[in-house]
Amino acid sequence: MAHKVLLTGGAGFIGSHTYVALKNAGYDAIIVDNFSNARRDVTDRLEIITGAPVECIEGDVLDGVLLDRIFAEHTIDAVIHYAALKAVGESMGKPLDYLNTNIAGLYSLLDAMQRADVFTLVFSSSATVYGQPDHLPVDEAAPRGFNNPYGYTKLVCEQSLEQISAADDRWAFGVLRYFNPVGAHETGLIGEDPNDIPNNLVPYIAKVATGEQDQLSVWGDDYDTPDGTGIRDYIHVTDLARGHVQSLDALLKSRQGHVVNLGTGTGYSVLEVVKAYERAAGRALPYRIAPRRPGDVACVYGDTKLARELLGFEAELGLDDMCASSWNWVSRRKNT
Ligand code: UFG
Repeated sequence: MAHKVLLTGGAGFIGSHTYVALKNAGYDAIIVDNFSNARRDVTDRLEIITGAPVECIEGDVLDGVLLDRIFAEHTIDAVIHYAALKAVGESMGKPLDYLNTNIAGLYSLLDAMQRADVFTLVFSSSATVYGQPDHLPVDEAAPRGFNNPYGYTKLVCEQSLEQISAADDRWAFGVLRYFNPVGAHETGLIGEDPNDIPNNLVPYIAKVATGEQDQLSVWGDDYDTPDGTGIRDYIHVTDLARGHVQSLDALLKSRQGHVVNLGTGTGYSVLEVVKAYERAAGRALPYRIAPRRPGDVACVYGDTKLARELLGFEAELGLDDMCASSWNWVSRRKNT
């Protein structure tokens, strides 16, 4: 029988793409999501993409009673935990919300999993745990730190999982450090859809491309990079979703935990991303150079060797695919 996976936050950007990837790989999946940052019609769209009914329960991972009920009513073999808050700037204004949702949320989930005898978890971590790395590409052994409450929560969660797995060998954890996930599903039916004005680069450029924002502010052109703008490792969400499936495959097969980067290993500057999006949208996108954004680092891209060795994971899609799929998604969404 197919393994059944619970996706917390599975209606969100990365969760919804992983849902599709899991179904394509022969897994069964069920979503729990509080819809704080997800569209209600995601499940309808997932049904169109997968051609099958979607099981989705509305609720919060902090609700242990609800989690107990889900584990009692379904035979769940593993969990992928996305449900968390993820905006760096917002975390400075609402630190307690971040600590509660991200750290207490993980503990609530782990407690419920333990009560239900489910000991396999894939955890959404972030390259934010590296801060500004001393050397590039940054590998998994690099020192960790944090610059804001959001980054702190990811570090504490990683350390908590380390403590648990060191002390209790029933657990198998796959910790995935995402770089910068962008793009959308090839159907244009699911993608990233921030409720407010986006903080992240590609969703903001997308809003300039659709005319919802007048121009992009490029936060700084005086970094020590070839064109002076910040460099990041953007990864297509479809590749990232596949990385979760490969992480789960490895955990279920070997019971060996892993901590891996999920990126492409290639860095692109803000201006290179703007140019790629212009190619996708077929028009010039206005931008202005603005002061640096506090807390930003100049350049981050990941070492992809360990993910290849441990999971057989390699990103396949490039920057043009990311921008074309994002444009396909936002231009369709605007017309529906
Ligand atoms: N940028 C702009 N203008 C914008 C938005 C972003 O110039 O309107 C620039 C930033 O200065 C940076 C680059 O685009 O150089 C990427 O910025 P993002 O906000 O898209 O992404 P970050 O790399 O700052 O942060 C992202 C996630 C974090 C995560 C981090 C991990 O948002 O949650 O990657 O590396 F922690």
